[in-house]
Amino acid sequence: MPEYKEIVEEVKKRGKIINRAIDGFLPIKEPEGLYRAARHLINAGGKRLRPVMCLLASEAVGMEENRAVKAAVAVETIHNFTLIHDDIMDRDEMRRGVKTVHTLYGEPTAILAGDTLFARAFSVLAGDEHPAENVVKACRMLADVCVEICEGQYIDMSFESRELGEVSEEEYLEMVRKKTAALIACSCAIPAVLAGKEDYAKYLWNFGEMCGIGFQIHDDVLDLVGREKIGKDWGSDIVEGKKTLIVIKASEMGVNIPVFGKGKAEKGEIEEVVNVLEECGAIDYARKRAREFVEKGKVELRKLPESRARDILEGIADYLVSRDH
Ligand code: IPE
Ligand code: IPE
Ligand code: MG
Ligand code: MG
Ligand code: MG
Repeated sequence: MPEYKEIVEEVKKRGKIINRAIDGFLPIKEPEGLYRAARHLINAGGKRLRPVMCLLASEAVGMEENRAVKAAVAVETIHNFTLIHDDIMDRDEMRRGVKTVHTLYGEPTAILAGDTLFARAFSVLAGDEHPAENVVKACRMLADVCVEICEGQYIDMSFESRELGEVSEEEYLEMVRKKTAALIACSCAIPAVLAGKEDYAKYLWNFGEMCGIGFQIHDDVLDLVGREKIGKDWGSDIVEGKKTLIVIKASEMGVNIPVFGKGKAEKGEIEEVVNVLEECGAIDYARKRAREFVEKGKVELRKLPESRARDILEGIADYLVSRDH
């Protein structure tokens, strides 16, 4: 298995390919205000995990290097669309270490910037050079995933108005499968769909889905313990009353969570919540569950033929639930 350092290098290398491709597909043009808003988060960086996983999956199914670059750009563009709209919904001011799009450009422009990215993703993917029937299947898969993300985001919001203790772990898992794991699954499976390799597409989908659930559980952990490293508002989930696995577990144990869902909180109050959740073991429980999902995902990944790309994907799977940002 490649070492952690090698994995970071491989991710960086492919991240650069993605960035160059995005520049070509999403230039700043008239009306400039719209395109600047649409490019704001993309330019701020991000880990590029979904498109890198997409490129690696394409290599793992035997595709020529960079033949899946349009699909990779499409999934990253969809991801950025969801982030812009998510920050409006979650009332967050910081992402990727910079101000969120709606905070800088206002909500109406941010909504349009998101819509622009959403639509552009499909026009880029539709230009893929694989057989047309496979490209149509890939477009449909991505479109269906966007519907699932909307469902997941809606369910996430609807949980805010339910009492803590009313939302079960099972309901939480189904919500994160839709809002987060579906796009990661699609990012992994889409090259196999383009190549017409349905069996591989299934294994890669399952791998991405399991890893995606682990990834979101870990994101919820980082919301509490990640601090400034995550480049996002600290403790946002607590303030907004999000039913994360951590608070679901804590409430099962009868733990009281101060400032939960109160709409605002001081830093010291968030600090206190984090301490309470650490001490009762709810954060450790979530970390453990995140790792379990990734392990399930790896079993699926190993159904693919052995390759260096497959090994790097396995390394990324571990990174998803051990990262600090
Ligand atoms: C953040 O995703 C949104 C979630 C689904 C939790 P990432 O953590 O991949 O965000 P970037 O792209 O690196 O900023
Ligand atoms: C959002 O989950 C998942 C999306 C579909 C964008 P979060 O709301 O937890 O993501 P962050 O923490 O704001 O990145
Ligand atoms: Mg959010
Ligand atoms: Mg959200
Ligand atoms: Mg989060």
